[in-house]
Amino acid sequence: MNYYIGIDLGTSSVKLILMDSSGKIRRILSRTYPASYPRSGWSEQNPEDWYDRTMSGLQELLEGADRSRVCGLSLGGQMHGLVALDKDDRVIRPAILWNDGRATAEVEYLNDVVGTDKLSRWTGNIAFAGFTAPKLLWMKEQEPQRFARIAKIMLPKDYLAYRLTGVHCTDPTDASGMLLFDVKNRSWSHEMIEICGIREEMLARVYESFEPVGRLKEEPAGALGLGEVLVAAGAGDNAAAALGTGTVSEGQCNISLGTSGTVFIPCERFIVDGKNALHSFAHADGNYHLMGCILSAASCGKWWLEDILKTDDYAGETASFTGGGKNEVFFLPYLMGERSPHNDACARGLFLGMNMHTTRAGMTQAVYEGVTFALRDSVEIARNMGISPHRSRLCGGGARSGAWRQMAADILNLEMDLLETEEGPALGAAMLAAVACGEYGSVEEAAAQIVRIKETVAPNPEAVETYEARYQFFRELYPAVKELFRRAVFS
Ligand code: XUL
Repeated sequence: MNYYIGIDLGTSSVKLILMDSSGKIRRILSRTYPASYPRSGWSEQNPEDWYDRTMSGLQELLEGADRSRVCGLSLGGQMHGLVALDKDDRVIRPAILWNDGRATAEVEYLNDVVGTDKLSRWTGNIAFAGFTAPKLLWMKEQEPQRFARIAKIMLPKDYLAYRLTGVHCTDPTDASGMLLFDVKNRSWSHEMIEICGIREEMLARVYESFEPVGRLKEEPAGALGLGEVLVAAGAGDNAAAALGTGTVSEGQCNISLGTSGTVFIPCERFIVDGKNALHSFAHADGNYHLMGCILSAASCGKWWLEDILKTDDYAGETASFTGGGKNEVFFLPYLMGERSPHNDACARGLFLGMNMHTTRAGMTQAVYEGVTFALRDSVEIARNMGISPHRSRLCGGGARSGAWRQMAADILNLEMDLLETEEGPALGAAMLAAVACGEYGSVEEAAAQIVRIKETVAPNPEAVETYEARYQFFRELYPAVKELFRRAVFS
């Protein structure tokens, strides 16, 4: 029996799993690290913390295990973050994360001056503040001395891979979110490289997610008591989660309720929606996918319950949701600005409709409804493109809440499949390691053999109807206050 390690470099923690050849998870653990928000809408992390917590977590993961059986390792991770190294491989500044909204002026320049039609032709996507290229332009403008020292540009999980293997690598799923990558042709975009004022040699070599990039270097292997361990390129966390939930064929869908919320739809061909409101990215099986991403999903619940209500009793607070979907309160969940579909770093949160009878439970319900309505915006774009999934797999921390699962089925009018293993991205990463080592012939084969559905949540027809009407009202809210958000942020 061989062992494979899957690493998911998340936003609040790194999750590590040890999987055996049959796909069984032998051990699982996580290690947290802080994020800092130096200004409103900014979000940063220290890459050294990622490496430090990963190494100490791996030590514990491997305690008591037969380390000689560990053959492969791979990574999934938070996407889009900018990690810049100088010529001596020192990190130049804290990583600027996927939910950082500082690059608004650069997004406007790219979308309005360069033009969305060109960006879409070159990369398959348009500019969003969280993407890597606008952050590079921001650094060029605001921190020219640091920018001039850049020798290597990396994504978060690729920084870990670099520390572990010494290979400057990435994969097409994660490269897709940089706005520097020609997604359709799976190669760097020369036009975007020029616009950002960088050189191609600063960017990583691109390997397919399931391809080996090298072996664990002597130093980390020695520290962990490991022998020859093959490292596979890995994938952005959403593509890795899609593998870990078995979402690899056309017609499927995966919804992740994590810090961010995503709707992930695999496609055999490269396709783009007319307005680029959904991302057109590469998938980890060698094909493509469409994805909608909202920046604050489970993090809205965390903010509301922990920071505002000062409780961590998630089950108790959500137990009193009215199952039928009735509620007079609405909530816009754009606490960190919004990506899909509004592309507005100035958007913020908003409660609407409270009266003297409004309860704590009603406001809590509104928070979760607002997040789920926002995800439905992405599902509706796919439906308008003629892509109408009837069911979806559900993963991420939020999928553990029975109340939210039912609400998601009702608001999205989709059957929700829950998996035996909830560790989507970490499991997907371990599967990629197993494929790279030849344990499985392909990612499809690994997914078919490893992923099992545990339970399906069906929509409740009455709630579907109530939510349909409330969603139509929700859709009108953001356009009505869009301008006010802008004024509030810039005042
Ligand atoms: C996807 C995105 C987020 C991060 C969070 O485009 O920005 O899902 O990957 O980890």
